[in-house]
Amino acid sequence: MSVARTWAVALVGAEGECVEVEADLSQQTPEFRIIGLGDKALGEAVQRVHNACANSGTPLPRRRLTVNLSPASLPKQGSGFDIAIAVASLATEPGMDAASVASTVHVGELGLDGRLRPVPGVLPAVVAARRAGHRRVVVPHANGPEAALVDGVEVLAAVNLAQVVAWHGGEVEVPDDEPVALADEGAPRPDDLGLDLADVIGQREAVEALIVAAAGGHHLLMCGPPGAGKTMLARRLPGILPALDDRAALTAASIRSLSGSRIVELSRTPPFEAPHHSASVAALVGGGSRVVRPGAIARASEGVLFLDEAGEFPASVLDALRQPLETGTIAIHRAGAHAEYPARFQLVLATNPCPCGDYGIRGGTCVCPPAAIRRYLGRLSGPLLDRMDIELTLTRVSVAQRDAVPVTSTEVARARVAEARARARHRLRSTAWRVNADVPGTWLREGPAAPEPAVRRPLDAALTRGAITLRGYDRVLRVAWSLADIEGRPRLGVDHIGRALYLKKGLAR
Ligand SMILES: Nc1ncnc2c1ncn2[C@@H]1O[C@H](COP(=O)(O)OP(=O)(O)O)[C@@H](O)[C@H]1O
Ligand SMILES: [Mg+2]
Ligand SMILES: [Zn+2]
Repeated sequence: MSVARTWAVALVGAEGECVEVEADLSQQTPEFRIIGLGDKALGEAVQRVHNACANSGTPLPRRRLTVNLSPASLPKQGSGFDIAIAVASLATEPGMDAASVASTVHVGELGLDGRLRPVPGVLPAVVAARRAGHRRVVVPHANGPEAALVDGVEVLAAVNLAQVVAWHGGEVEVPDDEPVALADEGAPRPDDLGLDLADVIGQREAVEALIVAAAGGHHLLMCGPPGAGKTMLARRLPGILPALDDRAALTAASIRSLSGSRIVELSRTPPFEAPHHSASVAALVGGGSRVVRPGAIARASEGVLFLDEAGEFPASVLDALRQPLETGTIAIHRAGAHAEYPARFQLVLATNPCPCGDYGIRGGTCVCPPAAIRRYLGRLSGPLLDRMDIELTLTRVSVAQRDAVPVTSTEVARARVAEARARARHRLRSTAWRVNADVPGTWLREGPAAPEPAVRRPLDAALTRGAITLRGYDRVLRVAWSLADIEGRPRLGVDHIGRALYLKKGLAR
């Protein structure tokens, strides 16, 4: 045998594409070449594969070996092609079962000692393998539980290359190696599961606004002095959102896998990413030197991105939010590497009203000059503020307050959100949209459920006055629909529009 084939997976953004790995052995001076490669990490595959094979008791044939990865046009980054390259190369000589090799997808990196090393992105890789009709996958031992999340695929979670060769019928002694463990580089998930809205005393208006935001998937800005409960409220948003469906759960888990987190289950809890403003731009936007990895913005996909003390974030990060807010994706460009990840999230921003935090608070002692206050809020650029649906001003709850009881609980609020979402889905059943935040402006203004002129009058007036932009106009309509859905009303009323307008313009500027 002189030509052997097997399969690997290239990751393009959060999705995988199967790559055919073909090895050709010819009667010429010894040489080992890989063509159809992408980045540098892959270029180093030559050395890793060579040494790993030698140290596994299965050295590469000492003749000219050419390995081709196709399609060549597909960008290939990372070290996850090593095992496929090694197996195809070794299969050019008799020993392994060619049919077994040719029908198996191999994902993972090789250490020089021949052990398999875990790689990010195994979940989307195995999903891609199954989608392409493959039924057998080899992954590094530590990635086994992650690969096993995909139904209908036989997974060999191997410790070393010799084990893979033996699995394909090759005769080789399998050493009893210690598996290479996964370095969990991903940020640990904040343990927000125990957080309940019943912990929030008073703040009826804010709690109701949080429920409206959850019902329609609306972006929320909270402005108020330190201690007003902004962080407390934001952290309770994921708890009242509906559980992720299969597609969303898979997307969220795939992105976490690509960012190097250990994946052991397909979590149904919406992601909650709360990066600190001092985090690096790469940690937020994504990046990396050797391999492009998704950042917090992509990891918030299908969930919530919370920027606490939003005005403290570098302008470059706030600017980087514009693309995801428009397109639901984030593109990362690095020298020689490019990736695009899903980034569809609900944005929650929290900010103090001024540098000292007391501006606009009754009994407050703010002495910040007006210019400083304008500059402080101005850090949240106009275009970003224009993309917020609900702007909430909070004040501190005083301990002496008479109505100092919780407004609701997470359980009750979650049920109200679920009901409102069901109504929206029903109304939108003949369209591609699911939640109010998705609905385009033209459909809101001119579609079958467009409000009568008398109902939209306050909104038209605000637009004419220049108090809102046309983008703001559409945002108010979306929020108005969420208010109607929460009340179980099939039509928009003037009161829904009035309240939505108030929620949009709640921030005194
Ligand atoms: N409405 C409230 N009900 C109960 N506790 C509150 C409330 N508002 C503030 N707190 C308490 O004050 C602390 C600070 O709130 P926090 O959410 O961090 O405020 P902010 O983010 O606006 O500065 C909370 O951890 C909580 O203990
Ligand atoms: Mg806070
Ligand atoms: Zn101040």
